[in-house]
Amino acid sequence: MDKILVHGGRRLRGNVKISGSKNSALPILAATLLTKEPCTISRATQAPYDIVRKMRASVCILGPLLGREHEATVSLPGGCVIGDRPIDLHLRGFEALGAAVKVSGGNVKVLAPKLTGATVSLRSTFGSTVLGTGNVMMAAVLADGTTVIDGAAEEPEVVDLANFLIAMGAKIEGAGTRTITIEGVKELHGAEHEVIPDRIEAGTFLVAGAISGDEVTLHRVNPEHLQAVISPLREAGFHIESNGNKISIAPGTKRRPLKLDTVPYPGFPTDMQAQMCALLANTDGISVVSEHVFPNRFMHIAELKRMGANIDLQGATAVITGVPQLSGAPVMASDLRASAALVLAGLQADGITEVNRVYHIDRGYDSIDEKLNELGAEIERVKA
Ligand code: EPU
Repeated sequence: MDKILVHGGRRLRGNVKISGSKNSALPILAATLLTKEPCTISRATQAPYDIVRKMRASVCILGPLLGREHEATVSLPGGCVIGDRPIDLHLRGFEALGAAVKVSGGNVKVLAPKLTGATVSLRSTFGSTVLGTGNVMMAAVLADGTTVIDGAAEEPEVVDLANFLIAMGAKIEGAGTRTITIEGVKELHGAEHEVIPDRIEAGTFLVAGAISGDEVTLHRVNPEHLQAVISPLREAGFHIESNGNKISIAPGTKRRPLKLDTVPYPGFPTDMQAQMCALLANTDGISVVSEHVFPNRFMHIAELKRMGANIDLQGATAVITGVPQLSGAPVMASDLRASAALVLAGLQADGITEVNRVYHIDRGYDSIDEKLNELGAEIERVKA
């Protein structure tokens, strides 16, 4: 298994181009199943089978296959390291459209000789569901009649998927709000689409700039999608300017601690929680970070502590007392964003941080080591 060696203490400066959004590209690739015609998706890096089979997001083929073929079977995703990852809301949506759901042998099968538009609620105690909203939307585009998704996820990736479906001929209104209305059509056609910039990759590079940047400028970003990351970084003392599809970050006079709560969009994203913990671990004062989307998503905390961080985990809240200096150590990447956080922590640590199991990071970041090196970091990838 490859590992990454981060030599700490290098200053970052310069420009970085942000890639297409992973969390948009995945359901959009699944949506191409809704038509027999060719589709062209740009800025979507390739998703080889070897990677797809390891991805929980494969569950998003259920909606389009149900819509087009009237049946679909996928292996149940089960839990993952960031916690229990149920799909009950997806299934509730399919059932509302008339599908029968059967779980056996570790698989879930959905079957509907006919899909009929209905009102579907996707609300849960943790907010809505991003992939669930996409899945139900993809099943509903070819249903008979009108579907109303109540309590829909408002994330930009849902809007991007809706825009792709609209380009394929679907009739969808309200994507990006809590209520999405879909009027079923007979069939969809091929379309061309450019996926939105990856707001979490962008947020990760903003934190890299915050941690060890003189001035770092991100290109090909949508600043509107990043407001919930930009405002706490400003509050923490950094200078951030955005202009068109660029955002620059530069240090201020003093870093300040933060109180952060992860919530669904447009609030502060759970996918940025680990990276912010890395920054706050080295920020003077006491920061409090609470996770409201995936309450167990704190696998990075024990690893940050191995690097000298002072963090007290109290249920779904991390109380972080900033230390003046982290120290490099061998650490284990447990999931995608935790791995990114460990690389970020390594940038500001003394000595060398060895991040093991980096396949997690490669699943969601396009050449993060090369991009950081172009900014002035010193990161080596050691091939297994
Ligand atoms: N939930 C349910 N029932 C369901 C579905 C979700 O109770 O049927 C709960 C989950 O347990 C969680 C909350 O609802 O507490 C939100 O989960 P959601 O379904 O929105 O997550 P997801 O769609 O499976 C996507 C991203 C995640 C990101 C979350 C939240 C993709 C491929 N994944 O997951 O991205 O954390 O939305 O924004 O779009 C990542 O990129 O690192 C990542 C994990």
